[in-house]
Amino acid sequence: MRKITKTTKALILFGAAMIATAGVVQADGHLGKIKERQEAMKAVGGGIKIIVETAKGKRAFDAAVIKSAALTIKTNLEKAGPLFPEGTGEDSGIENRAKPEIWLDEEGFAAALKTAIAAADNMAGVAKMADLMPALGQLGGGCKGCHEKFRAPKK
Ligand code: HEC
Repeated sequence: MRKITKTTKALILFGAAMIATAGVVQADGHLGKIKERQEAMKAVGGGIKIIVETAKGKRAFDAAVIKSAALTIKTNLEKAGPLFPEGTGEDSGIENRAKPEIWLDEEGFAAALKTAIAAADNMAGVAKMADLMPALGQLGGGCKGCHEKFRAPKK
């Protein structure tokens, strides 16, 4: 049997340490991205809450408020989009609700995102109460269109 020299041993240990470090960095990066996208989605949820309250008459209609809420939704959906790198799904070991379908159907996910962003854009242009419900139907459909296929149920 070949004798393992001290140098070889040191190299092996060094290599193992590097791999371990890379794993930690990777997991950290993933954790950061998961947290960031969840924060973005929370902001999206905050935006839709204002719009729903207005639709229900719990808030007086104010086009400026609707516009601001719609733009919050739009920017945060845009922000969340790139925060779904492969390996950050519900099976990653980090608790989250991103289904594997996101990476099995990347085009479908991108299309669902695009549809919801367009609906938020449309909402931003709502100038009167009569137009709010149809725009909300479209926007809500945008959320649902993605969540139904790509978001796992709450555990
Ligand atoms: C293109 C897909 C997509 C669209 C569009 C989308 N979501 Fe999400 N949303 C997700 C996914 C996936 C998660 C789970 C993310 C995770 O757990 O890391 C999520 C999570 C959330 C959460 C939970 C955040 C948390 O962790 O507390 C809220 C609230 C939410 N979405 C609201 C909305 C609303 C409101 C809309 C529509 C205006 C919307 N989403 C549109 C994919 C989408």
